[in-house]
Amino acid sequence: MGTFFFFLIILPLLAVLAVPCSYASAQSTLSTGSSLSVEEDSNIFLTSPHNEFSCGFYEAGGNAFSFSIWFTATMEKTVVWSANPKSPVNGHGSKVSLNHNGNLALTDVNGTVTWDTGTRSGEGTVVSLLDTGNLIVRDSTGTILWESFSSPTDTLLPLQPLTKGTRLVSSYYSLYFDNDNVLRLMYDGPNISSIYWPNPDHTAFDNGRTTYNSSRVAVLDTEGFFLSSDGLNFKASDWGTRVKRRLTIGYDGNLRMYSLNASTGSWIVSWEAIAVMCDVHGICGQNGMCEYSPSLRCSCAPGYEMTDPQNWNKGCQPQFNKSCSKTQQFDFIKVPHSDCYGFDLTYNQSITFADCEKTCLDSCSCLAFTYKTGTGFCYTKALLFNCYRSSDFLGDNYIKVPKNMETSKQSGLTCNPGIPVVVQGSASMYGMDDGNKSYTTYYVFAAILGAIVLLFIGTSWSFLYSKQNIPKSMEAGYRMVTSQFRMFTYRELREATGKFKEEIGRGASGIVYRGVFEDKRVVAVKKLTNISHSEEEFWAEMNIIGRINHMNLVRMWGFCSEGQHKLLVYEYVENESLDKFIFGDVSTERLLSWSQRFKIALGTARGLAYLHHECLEWVIHCDIKPENILLSRDFEAKIADFGLAKLSKRDSSSFNLAHMRGTMGYMAPEWALNLPINAKVDVYSYGVVLLELVSGSRISSGIAVDDGKEVQLTQFVHAVKELLVSGDVKDIVDTRLNCHFNPEQVTVMAKLALSCLEERNSRPTMNETVRALLACDDHDNHPAYSW
Ligand SMILES: *[C@@H]1O[C@H](CO)[C@@H](O)[C@H](O)[C@H]1NC(C)=O
Ligand SMILES: *[C@@H]1O[C@H](CO)[C@@H](O)[C@H](O)[C@H]1NC(C)=O
Ligand SMILES: *[C@@H]1O[C@H](CO)[C@@H](O)[C@H](O)[C@H]1NC(C)=O
Ligand SMILES: *[C@@H]1O[C@H](CO)[C@@H](O)[C@H](O)[C@H]1NC(C)=O
Ligand SMILES: *[C@@H]1O[C@H](CO)[C@@H](O)[C@H](O)[C@H]1NC(C)=O
Ligand SMILES: *[C@@H]1O[C@H](CO)[C@@H](O)[C@H](O)[C@H]1NC(C)=O
Repeated sequence: MGTFFFFLIILPLLAVLAVPCSYASAQSTLSTGSSLSVEEDSNIFLTSPHNEFSCGFYEAGGNAFSFSIWFTATMEKTVVWSANPKSPVNGHGSKVSLNHNGNLALTDVNGTVTWDTGTRSGEGTVVSLLDTGNLIVRDSTGTILWESFSSPTDTLLPLQPLTKGTRLVSSYYSLYFDNDNVLRLMYDGPNISSIYWPNPDHTAFDNGRTTYNSSRVAVLDTEGFFLSSDGLNFKASDWGTRVKRRLTIGYDGNLRMYSLNASTGSWIVSWEAIAVMCDVHGICGQNGMCEYSPSLRCSCAPGYEMTDPQNWNKGCQPQFNKSCSKTQQFDFIKVPHSDCYGFDLTYNQSITFADCEKTCLDSCSCLAFTYKTGTGFCYTKALLFNCYRSSDFLGDNYIKVPKNMETSKQSGLTCNPGIPVVVQGSASMYGMDDGNKSYTTYYVFAAILGAIVLLFIGTSWSFLYSKQNIPKSMEAGYRMVTSQFRMFTYRELREATGKFKEEIGRGASGIVYRGVFEDKRVVAVKKLTNISHSEEEFWAEMNIIGRINHMNLVRMWGFCSEGQHKLLVYEYVENESLDKFIFGDVSTERLLSWSQRFKIALGTARGLAYLHHECLEWVIHCDIKPENILLSRDFEAKIADFGLAKLSKRDSSSFNLAHMRGTMGYMAPEWALNLPINAKVDVYSYGVVLLELVSGSRISSGIAVDDGKEVQLTQFVHAVKELLVSGDVKDIVDTRLNCHFNPEQVTVMAKLALSCLEERNSRPTMNETVRALLACDDHDNHPAYSW
């Protein structure tokens, strides 16, 4: 995830600290005196003999690195072990080295040893990365002094035993052998611990486990069989040798086995412990409600709001003051088909609803009750934890709130990128009922993509938790990761930009200047024009936009709002916008190759899918075009200007954005037809961009390549359709590529583009688009693909 937090710093000064002896080309064994500094281009310390695994510095977030082991040949870097997951080291001046006394140590920029193996055996000691993914330190006699297999992080690799002394951990969740010898999954939060797997309502025996074998060891073999000393055994759905697998506890608390699809380089879930994610305890925090429909989604119980809008683990807090005085009167808000696991205050059977309600009213500590009609089951709740909604549950939950309290009926869901809960955009956002869609594929896709994303987010998130571990004296990189987003003063920005000297771009929404902060961070500062928002509204919008964080979206570092001055501060993206690399007289060196184009198509789709599907605030871009797709140093697409549609819209009653947003040629027909605007407008624009990527010509302007002849978009689309039928895809492709392209990908992209340009209900969603592209991602063409 080289660019996940997109943090860019120029720091030649620290080169002094770099170690003279370092290795650019990776080997599988190194002897004492070897080291790797974090600035090294390859970032690779060792690779296993058959290049299955690599080990080196992994960028967990802006300027924050961990010393990690990952699979070499997966599409997205899949980390399987980290030395310092919770205390990242600085992206400048840090190094890992095998000292002359035989200690493998990770040193931060100021010389502090962040992590070491604690081995002392002098000359002759070597460190090797084995083909199993095990990093070992051996002395001159060959004795293993230390191995990464005995200190797992969140992943168990084949042949790596899970033992008495080890556990897999991810955020508050862990897989471990309990005191009764049973292998369990537990939520271990700040205030509450709760076991959720195997089913806590049953005995170990009923769950098919035993308690007598105290050897407490479990291992996944190379054929995909998992065998535990408590009698648990399961196998991968694709069991057999020759498949690379891993068992990982996700940031969402589920334990999954993944199998690598070698042809695509992506992971497929081949087994999982929890089928219904709401069974994972604590997933939505205290007073949070979990729903699975069709993907996991958290909300606050009525009358409650998110404690920390960044983090569902912190749950929700009441929006009211509760007193036990007789004067305060309460009402109940019904949450149909829901229950909260555990923490019952009282339990009664065969009582009436009125009696159950009264029981809760009479008890000061009762926060809610669950009632099942028919049987008359009544549970009053002292704590709201592990609450879930499911149409299968035949009871209802009643949340106690003060009388006359104005509860917003909307569940307080906001777009929280760092939140381990993958929140799916509502179907209504697309103006359609998703009911007839097959969710099976969706699940698999969401699970894989979600899990991969979460793994990465998790890594970076896990040190957000441990702010206290992050040295204060460290420079902005760390602080950026923790504070993420802030308000700047106008003066700061004026200084950073040298009084707005260097203009680097200009658009409908404002002028962009290059700026450099004191910490050498280069940023792009956008001076907004025509902002009619009040101060408060502007803040609110910033609060939403600022939380959006995805590698294919230009990161916003902050903003400034002082009177008339409204400015936005973005990460600085080195390369220019996409249009500069495909249209017109592009020099041969600048012209994008096919694999770069494909990567940009995929990246843009991912960015949009994130905006549409993972933010519950309706983030529709409304102005997708090559000018708004910036390219990073390694030609990763980064969508700029998202969220600005919200800023420029004044009042939603006149939701006629057509005059303000969108660029002719990329605008979906519904703009002109005055239909309600939904995320499908972005899908349309994306379709145009796809065609332009393939053909290398500005279709949107009505001019196609052929001798500069004017061709309307519809005509072009028609032509593409015919070529697809006849199979002559090469006639669609940019001639400047000299036939260097992947015909399968061209076909998929062209078909996809056409479906994006259809009537809006027939257009695919961005998630479907990502999936279609991933299916033909020829990863061999760009093995360096990384997040
Ligand atoms: C306990 O488990 C280990 C590892 O699975 C196995 O080798 C051993 O035979 C078991 N012991 C008993 C008494 O079942
Ligand atoms: C844990 O409990 C303390 C005291 O009751 C409370 O202040 C704190 O907010 C709780 N933490 C979480 C994460 O719920
Ligand atoms: C709760 O009490 C605090 C302090 O007494 C007060 O500031 C706040 O406005 C009250 N909140 C509500 C929702 O009544
Ligand atoms: C419900 O059960 C509690 C004990 O759990 C008991 O004290 C109470 O009287 C019962 N209430 C009714 C209405 O039966
Ligand atoms: C390096 O920074 C850490 C964290 O601020 C601090 O604890 C440590 O003492 C520093 N070490 C040196 C040698 O300055
Ligand atoms: C790998 O993915 C490709 C493309 O999605 C698919 O055709 C193939 O069946 C997959 N292979 C395995 C072993 O799942």
